[in-house]
Amino acid sequence: MKAVLLAGGTGTRLRPLTNLYNKHMLPVGDRPMIGHAIAKVKEAGITDVVLVTGREAAGSFIAYLGSGREEGLSITYRIQEEAGGIAEALAQAESAVDPDDKIVVLLGDNLFEESLKPHAEAFAAQPDGAMVLLKRVSDPRRYGVPVFDESGRIVRIEEKPEQAATNQCVTGIYFYHADVFGIIRQLKPSRRGELEITDVNNVYAAAGKLTHRTLKGWWTDAGTFDSLYEAANRVRRGRR
Ligand code: G1P
Repeated sequence: MKAVLLAGGTGTRLRPLTNLYNKHMLPVGDRPMIGHAIAKVKEAGITDVVLVTGREAAGSFIAYLGSGREEGLSITYRIQEEAGGIAEALAQAESAVDPDDKIVVLLGDNLFEESLKPHAEAFAAQPDGAMVLLKRVSDPRRYGVPVFDESGRIVRIEEKPEQAATNQCVTGIYFYHADVFGIIRQLKPSRRGELEITDVNNVYAAAGKLTHRTLKGWWTDAGTFDSLYEAANRVRRGRR
Protein backbone atom coordinates (compact mmCIF):
# COMPACT_ATOMS: atom_id res chain seq x y z
CA MET A 1 0.00 0.00 0.00
CA LYS A 2 1.25 3.47 -0.91
CA ALA A 3 0.39 6.69 0.90
CA VAL A 4 -0.72 9.74 -1.07
CA LEU A 5 -0.38 12.99 0.86
CA LEU A 6 -2.36 15.92 -0.48
CA ALA A 7 -0.75 19.23 0.38
CA GLY A 8 -2.00 21.69 -2.21
CA GLY A 9 -4.80 24.22 -2.13
CA THR A 10 -4.78 27.91 -1.41
CA GLY A 11 -5.45 27.87 2.34
CA THR A 12 -7.78 30.87 2.10
CA ARG A 13 -9.10 30.37 5.63
CA LEU A 14 -5.60 30.89 7.03
CA ARG A 15 -4.76 34.15 5.29
CA PRO A 16 -2.56 36.14 5.71
CA LEU A 17 -0.30 33.29 6.95
CA THR A 18 -0.90 31.41 3.71
CA ASN A 19 0.12 34.45 1.66
CA LEU A 20 3.60 33.63 2.92
CA TYR A 21 3.59 29.87 3.38
CA ASN A 22 1.78 26.83 2.04
CA LYS A 23 -0.74 25.78 4.73
CA HIS A 24 0.98 22.43 5.24
CA MET A 25 4.25 24.16 6.04
CA LEU A 26 2.81 26.13 8.96
CA PRO A 27 4.18 24.98 12.30
CA VAL A 28 2.06 22.66 14.44
CA GLY A 29 4.01 22.04 17.63
CA ASP A 30 7.50 20.82 16.89
CA ARG A 31 7.25 20.46 13.10
CA PRO A 32 5.51 21.71 9.98
CA MET A 33 1.95 20.41 9.59
CA ILE A 34 2.96 17.93 6.86
CA GLY A 35 5.51 16.38 9.26
CA HIS A 36 2.64 14.94 11.28
CA ALA A 37 1.21 13.16 8.24
CA ILE A 38 4.67 11.81 7.46
CA ALA A 39 4.95 10.48 11.03
CA LYS A 40 1.59 8.71 10.68
CA VAL A 41 2.64 7.07 7.44
CA LYS A 42 5.86 5.82 9.05
CA GLU A 43 4.00 4.56 12.11
CA ALA A 44 1.73 2.49 9.82
CA GLY A 45 4.79 0.84 8.27
CA ILE A 46 4.16 2.35 4.83
CA THR A 47 7.36 3.37 3.04
CA ASP A 48 6.21 4.57 -0.40
CA VAL A 49 4.79 8.09 -0.40
CA VAL A 50 3.45 10.29 -3.17
CA LEU A 51 3.22 13.95 -2.17
CA VAL A 52 1.01 16.23 -4.26
CA THR A 53 1.36 19.97 -3.92
CA GLY A 54 1.26 23.17 -5.94
CA ARG A 55 4.05 24.51 -8.11
CA GLU A 56 5.03 27.40 -5.85
CA ALA A 57 5.26 25.32 -2.66
CA ALA A 58 7.02 22.28 -4.11
CA GLY A 59 10.50 23.62 -3.39
CA SER A 60 9.82 23.97 0.32
CA PHE A 61 8.52 20.40 0.58
CA ILE A 62 11.61 19.10 -1.18
CA ALA A 63 13.82 21.22 1.09
CA TYR A 64 12.10 19.75 4.16
CA LEU A 65 11.68 16.11 3.12
CA GLY A 66 14.02 15.51 0.19
CA SER A 67 13.91 11.95 -1.07
CA GLY A 68 12.53 10.79 2.27
CA ARG A 69 15.74 8.95 3.07
CA GLU A 70 16.16 10.45 6.54
CA GLU A 71 12.70 9.16 7.45
CA GLY A 72 13.24 5.76 5.84
CA LEU A 73 10.72 6.65 3.15
CA SER A 74 10.73 6.92 -0.62
CA ILE A 75 8.92 10.11 -1.60
CA THR A 76 7.71 10.87 -5.13
CA TYR A 77 6.45 14.38 -5.88
CA ARG A 78 3.62 15.38 -8.17
CA ILE A 79 2.52 18.90 -9.01
CA GLN A 80 -1.07 20.12 -9.11
CA GLU A 81 -0.82 23.10 -11.43
CA GLU A 82 -4.04 24.77 -10.29
CA ALA A 83 -6.17 24.29 -7.19
CA GLY A 84 -8.97 22.17 -8.68
CA GLY A 85 -10.19 20.26 -5.66
CA ILE A 86 -9.09 17.29 -3.58
CA ALA A 87 -10.03 14.68 -6.20
CA GLU A 88 -8.14 16.60 -8.87
CA ALA A 89 -5.09 16.68 -6.60
CA LEU A 90 -5.40 12.93 -6.07
CA ALA A 91 -5.55 12.38 -9.85
CA GLN A 92 -2.00 13.75 -10.12
CA ALA A 93 -0.73 10.69 -8.23
CA GLU A 94 -1.99 8.17 -10.79
CA SER A 95 1.27 7.65 -12.66
CA ALA A 96 3.05 6.86 -9.37
CA VAL A 97 0.59 4.11 -8.33
CA ASP A 98 0.48 0.59 -9.78
CA PRO A 99 -2.92 -0.35 -11.26
CA ASP A 100 -3.30 -3.26 -8.81
CA ASP A 101 -2.15 -1.38 -5.74
CA LYS A 102 -4.13 0.14 -2.91
CA ILE A 103 -3.57 3.58 -1.44
CA VAL A 104 -4.27 5.51 1.71
CA VAL A 105 -4.92 9.18 1.00
CA LEU A 106 -4.30 11.73 3.74
CA LEU A 107 -5.33 15.34 3.57
CA GLY A 108 -2.23 17.07 4.85
CA ASP A 109 -4.21 19.29 7.21
CA ASN A 110 -5.77 16.40 9.13
CA LEU A 111 -4.04 15.59 12.43
CA PHE A 112 -4.97 12.64 14.59
CA GLU A 113 -3.87 10.44 17.44
CA GLU A 114 -4.59 6.84 16.54
CA SER A 115 -2.28 4.71 14.42
CA LEU A 116 -3.38 4.08 10.84
CA LYS A 117 -2.07 0.55 11.05
CA PRO A 118 -5.24 -1.37 12.07
CA HIS A 119 -7.23 0.53 9.46
CA ALA A 120 -4.67 -0.12 6.72
CA GLU A 121 -4.69 -3.81 7.64
CA ALA A 122 -8.48 -3.93 7.48
CA PHE A 123 -8.47 -2.31 4.06
CA ALA A 124 -5.70 -4.59 2.80
CA ALA A 125 -8.10 -7.48 3.51
CA GLN A 126 -11.01 -5.77 1.69
CA PRO A 127 -11.24 -7.21 -1.84
CA ASP A 128 -12.13 -3.97 -3.61
CA GLY A 129 -13.80 -0.58 -3.29
CA ALA A 130 -13.00 2.13 -0.77
CA MET A 131 -13.04 2.79 2.96
CA VAL A 132 -13.43 6.02 4.92
CA LEU A 133 -12.68 6.80 8.56
CA LEU A 134 -15.38 8.56 10.56
CA LYS A 135 -15.22 10.72 13.65
CA ARG A 136 -17.86 12.15 15.95
CA VAL A 137 -17.67 15.97 15.89
CA SER A 138 -19.59 18.85 17.45
CA ASP A 139 -20.03 20.74 14.15
CA PRO A 140 -20.60 18.15 11.38
CA ARG A 141 -21.89 20.78 8.94
CA ARG A 142 -18.30 21.88 8.31
CA TYR A 143 -17.50 18.47 6.81
CA GLY A 144 -18.64 15.54 4.71
CA VAL A 145 -21.44 13.82 6.68
CA PRO A 146 -22.37 10.14 6.17
CA VAL A 147 -25.96 8.98 5.71
CA PHE A 148 -26.52 5.37 6.83
CA ASP A 149 -29.11 2.72 5.93
CA GLU A 150 -30.70 0.45 8.58
CA SER A 151 -27.84 -2.02 8.33
CA GLY A 152 -25.32 0.72 9.15
CA ARG A 153 -23.85 0.95 5.66
CA ILE A 154 -23.10 4.40 4.23
CA VAL A 155 -25.57 5.06 1.41
CA ARG A 156 -24.16 8.50 0.61
CA ILE A 157 -22.10 11.35 1.97
CA GLU A 158 -23.43 14.89 2.06
CA GLU A 159 -20.78 17.58 1.72
CA LYS A 160 -21.23 20.44 4.20
CA PRO A 161 -25.01 19.92 4.54
CA GLU A 162 -27.23 22.61 6.00
CA GLN A 163 -28.71 19.95 8.25
CA ALA A 164 -26.45 17.09 9.24
CA ALA A 165 -27.97 13.58 9.27
CA THR A 166 -25.61 12.46 12.05
CA ASN A 167 -23.02 13.97 14.38
CA GLN A 168 -20.23 12.13 12.58
CA CYS A 169 -18.00 13.39 9.82
CA VAL A 170 -15.91 11.76 7.14
CA THR A 171 -12.31 12.55 8.01
CA GLY A 172 -9.70 13.34 5.39
CA ILE A 173 -8.31 9.81 5.60
CA TYR A 174 -9.41 7.67 2.66
CA PHE A 175 -8.49 4.18 1.47
CA TYR A 176 -8.88 3.29 -2.20
CA HIS A 177 -8.14 0.62 -4.71
CA ALA A 178 -6.25 2.13 -7.67
CA ASP A 179 -9.51 2.02 -9.66
CA VAL A 180 -10.19 5.37 -7.98
CA PHE A 181 -8.28 7.10 -10.79
CA GLY A 182 -10.78 5.82 -13.37
CA ILE A 183 -13.61 7.12 -11.18
CA ILE A 184 -12.04 10.59 -10.92
CA ARG A 185 -11.82 10.76 -14.73
CA GLN A 186 -15.62 10.39 -14.91
CA LEU A 187 -16.33 13.19 -12.42
CA LYS A 188 -17.82 16.54 -13.32
CA PRO A 189 -16.78 19.68 -11.40
CA SER A 190 -19.07 20.70 -8.56
CA ARG A 191 -20.86 24.03 -8.25
CA ARG A 192 -17.69 25.59 -6.86
CA GLY A 193 -15.81 24.31 -9.95
CA GLU A 194 -13.81 21.59 -8.18
CA LEU A 195 -13.54 17.81 -8.40
CA GLU A 196 -14.86 16.77 -4.99
CA ILE A 197 -13.58 13.83 -3.00
CA THR A 198 -17.12 13.36 -1.65
CA ASP A 199 -18.32 12.74 -5.22
CA VAL A 200 -15.65 10.03 -5.56
CA ASN A 201 -16.79 8.39 -2.33
CA ASN A 202 -20.42 8.59 -3.42
CA VAL A 203 -19.63 6.57 -6.56
CA TYR A 204 -18.34 3.78 -4.30
CA ALA A 205 -21.30 4.19 -1.92
CA ALA A 206 -23.80 3.89 -4.80
CA ALA A 207 -22.07 0.67 -5.91
CA GLY A 208 -22.26 -0.71 -2.33
CA LYS A 209 -18.46 -0.65 -2.13
CA LEU A 210 -17.82 1.98 0.52
CA THR A 211 -16.99 0.64 3.96
CA HIS A 212 -16.15 2.65 7.06
CA ARG A 213 -14.39 2.42 10.38
CA THR A 214 -14.29 4.85 13.28
CA LEU A 215 -11.09 6.65 14.17
CA LYS A 216 -10.20 6.46 17.87
CA GLY A 217 -8.53 9.23 19.89
CA TRP A 218 -8.51 12.88 18.93
CA TRP A 219 -8.80 14.14 15.37
CA THR A 220 -8.82 17.65 14.00
CA ASP A 221 -8.28 19.40 10.75
CA ALA A 222 -6.04 22.45 10.94
CA GLY A 223 -7.40 24.54 8.12
CA THR A 224 -8.81 27.40 10.20
CA PHE A 225 -7.25 29.53 12.92
CA ASP A 226 -9.30 27.81 15.64
CA SER A 227 -8.48 24.31 14.42
CA LEU A 228 -4.81 25.17 13.86
CA TYR A 229 -4.64 26.31 17.47
CA GLU A 230 -6.44 23.15 18.62
CA ALA A 231 -4.06 20.96 16.62
CA ALA A 232 -1.02 22.62 18.18
CA ASN A 233 -2.49 22.12 21.67
CA ARG A 234 -3.32 18.47 21.00
CA VAL A 235 0.18 17.80 19.74
CA ARG A 236 1.71 19.59 22.70
CA ARG A 237 -0.37 17.68 25.25
CA GLY A 238 0.51 14.42 23.51
CA ARG A 239 4.20 15.15 24.05
CA ARG A 240 3.96 15.86 27.76
C1 G1P B 1 -12.66 18.15 3.05
C2 G1P B 1 -13.73 17.20 2.51
C3 G1P B 1 -14.72 16.86 3.63
C4 G1P B 1 -13.98 16.29 4.83
C5 G1P B 1 -12.88 17.25 5.28
C6 G1P B 1 -12.01 16.61 6.36
O1 G1P B 1 -13.25 19.39 3.35
O2 G1P B 1 -14.38 17.81 1.40
O3 G1P B 1 -15.66 15.92 3.16
O4 G1P B 1 -14.90 16.05 5.88
O5 G1P B 1 -12.02 17.60 4.19
O6 G1P B 1 -10.99 17.48 6.80
P1 G1P B 1 -12.40 20.77 3.26
O7 G1P B 1 -11.41 20.74 4.38
O8 G1P B 1 -11.75 20.80 1.93
O9 G1P B 1 -13.42 21.85 3.45
